[in-house]
Amino acid sequence: MKFQSIITIDRHFIDQEKKFPYATGEFTKILYNLSLAAKIVTRDVRKAGLVDIIGITSDSNSSGEVQKKLDMYANDVFVNVMNHDGIVCALASEEVDSLIELDESAWGGRYVVMFDPLDGSSNIDANVSIGTIFSIYKRQSPVGGPSQLRDVLQPGYKQIGAGYIIYGSSTMFVYTTGNGVHGFTYDPSCGEFLLSHPNMKTPKKGAIYSINEGNWNSFDPATQKYISFLKESDKESNRPYTSRYIGSLVADFHRNLLYGGIYIYPGTAKSPDGKLRLLYECNPLAMVIEQAGGKATNGQKRILDITPKDLHERTPLFIGSPDDVDQAMDFIREQEKHTVT
Ligand code: AHG
Ligand code: MN
Ligand code: MN
Repeated sequence: MKFQSIITIDRHFIDQEKKFPYATGEFTKILYNLSLAAKIVTRDVRKAGLVDIIGITSDSNSSGEVQKKLDMYANDVFVNVMNHDGIVCALASEEVDSLIELDESAWGGRYVVMFDPLDGSSNIDANVSIGTIFSIYKRQSPVGGPSQLRDVLQPGYKQIGAGYIIYGSSTMFVYTTGNGVHGFTYDPSCGEFLLSHPNMKTPKKGAIYSINEGNWNSFDPATQKYISFLKESDKESNRPYTSRYIGSLVADFHRNLLYGGIYIYPGTAKSPDGKLRLLYECNPLAMVIEQAGGKATNGQKRILDITPKDLHERTPLFIGSPDDVDQAMDFIREQEKHTVT
């Protein structure tokens, strides 16, 4: 029997660390802790239908949305694994209004971690794929004291690591530290994430578009024109595109990363900044897509160049294959010409 080389996620983290001669192992420990939390959440997502951890609680998060129990459970798991070894000085979560309070043992930490603990939570009860998104930065405030807001309000290009976990037909851990994007599939029989998708690249151009088209009437004219264009028939440019929308950003993003295409959550007249959060959703996925050869913009500028002003800031998002994102931007620029003149 031919034995294939097996690369566990821990081995991969260590191999990446070796590329940095002054690495202390602390950053690797953060990645390791994230993968540990992913295993714990996987276990509980898998049995969510069996135990009393699903169902709506009476609490709502900072954005006024109803939280599900599993959101809060996943939040607690990620906070718990991050907050015990003094490596992380600041933690922020989509589910928590302000910076998560850490005790003095975190004051010496040199890293900042932000996450969306459960993305796609409206899909939990329907057994549809959900995910976790994470983002890692270096601390900005002096080491030795409590963390400050400036530690978390950094532009996305300063991320030193980012990724997501998708709880789908299998669980996958996909991450980048700026050296390409690598995907691992969880093998429950040995309790390990194994390298299944080394050096992931997104196609230059795809044939899928993902947008909540129910919001059509509130899209700006440029987005409407672009979507209408994608539906036209033209063999040469592979149109009409296929429409795919799960409503779990992680799952929509992951599929489009593999197959190529564009995901759009635009601003609307009522919510000019759209729905998605810059720090917990857009920045980490923007780092991943750029590392995979794709692009991410808010329609005006690169997502990773936005300097956040607020922990829960939202932004419109156009993300995916580079040619598709460029083409969407062409429609926006064309519309702007008409608006100006
Ligand atoms: P979350 O479950 O973390 O609140 O995120 C939900 C997000 C995202 O996952 C998804 O793409 C989007 O909301 C769907 O929004 P619509 O229902 O408005 O399409
Ligand atoms: Mn989310
Ligand atoms: Mn969430």
